[in-house]
Amino acid sequence: MKILGIETSCDETAICVLEANGDLVHMSFRILGDAVYSQVKTHEQYGGVFPMMAKREHAANLVPMLLKALEEAGLKKASGDNERNLKEIERLLLREPGLFEAVRENVVPIKRPDIDAIAVTHGPGLEPALWVGVNFAKALSALWDVPLIPVNHMEGHIVSVLLRENENSKFQIPNTEEISFPAIALLISGGHTQIVLARNWADYVIVGDTRDDAVGEAFDKVARMLGLTYPGGPQISRLAKSDRLEHTKSRFKLPRPMITSGDLDFSFSGLKTAVLYLVRKIPELTDDIKRAVAREFEDAAADVLTAKASDAIKRFGAKTLIVGGGVSGNAHIRARLAELASKVGGIDLRLPSTRLSTDNAVMIAMAGFVRLQTTAAINPYETEFAARGDLRLS
Ligand code: KG4
Ligand code: ZN
Repeated sequence: MKILGIETSCDETAICVLEANGDLVHMSFRILGDAVYSQVKTHEQYGGVFPMMAKREHAANLVPMLLKALEEAGLKKASGDNERNLKEIERLLLREPGLFEAVRENVVPIKRPDIDAIAVTHGPGLEPALWVGVNFAKALSALWDVPLIPVNHMEGHIVSVLLRENENSKFQIPNTEEISFPAIALLISGGHTQIVLARNWADYVIVGDTRDDAVGEAFDKVARMLGLTYPGGPQISRLAKSDRLEHTKSRFKLPRPMITSGDLDFSFSGLKTAVLYLVRKIPELTDDIKRAVAREFEDAAADVLTAKASDAIKRFGAKTLIVGGGVSGNAHIRARLAELASKVGGIDLRLPSTRLSTDNAVMIAMAGFVRLQTTAAINPYETEFAARGDLRLS
């Protein structure tokens, strides 16, 4: 079947067309079209994502991304035979000024594409941003008479490891992946730091969570303290790497918050504050010092993440360690988790490809396929569904 995926929970406007086949045990996926518009340039100057600005950007970029994804998938055919009433589409897009006009002018003339379902992120995330994607998905569903699948963004990050990509080409060979359960999913992004016990697909329990900041947020804030632009994760990583090449030992010492707390929770706000105090004491932040601070911060974050992942694996007898979210792109953290997996033994470590580690629509379409195996899709005329910023996995 073909699934259209839509993702607008934060600062990426993403749409894809995914071919998905199989069942919960053997799934195979192939990306037919994939378009991502990153708003990073818009938010860079403010050092973070402003929800209302993200919302505006999504409304402006959803239609261009849809056209791009359909075009790539060879599904964009002009001269429509869409039967749905434009008044209804307008009602559905009432909350998104500008989007209705764009849909009327560019999408309505497209013939109903060969798509079987639309999967859309409805939470968690920035609620104004989520609403744009949800309303757009409802409008497309109504226009083309295609069922909708509401998707939890975090489930997207979990299933992102199922598509093993050829890193040189986005149109990779179809593949089938099996996961042994129980699995522990370490979800590390700009908005979340969670440990999830997956007893099976679509059967999750959150067993660890952050008490304050998410790990990616701490990376971004520390980067800001060091005078680096948003998002700071990749830049911290680069600085830390060059310090490791030059110095065998870390020259600063930061705390490892909650590493011995005995539970699976995290706290990254204290670590961020410790960096602030450290930086304040240093009269001049030379490039060399910045590299050393970045290295110690990355080490501290990696220590805590690895220790908690290890604890969770043992507690629940996990056979697989799944890692997802933007921070899973961090080379040092990946290496530390690989080291952990080989030390524990018998654990299958699954990491997403670089492209699927940050927010994208492919993982949303994949999660939609997983959902379809356990839950029926919905019809927006019969079932109301809303964007939920605080949506929980369970
Ligand atoms: O999953 P994601 O794209 O968006 C959310 O759902 O939050 O994650 C974005 C976060 C940002 O905080 C960014 O700084 C962080 O992931 N990130 C990294 C790296 N690449 C992205 N953090 C550390 N090292 C990286 N290489
Ligand atoms: Zn995410």
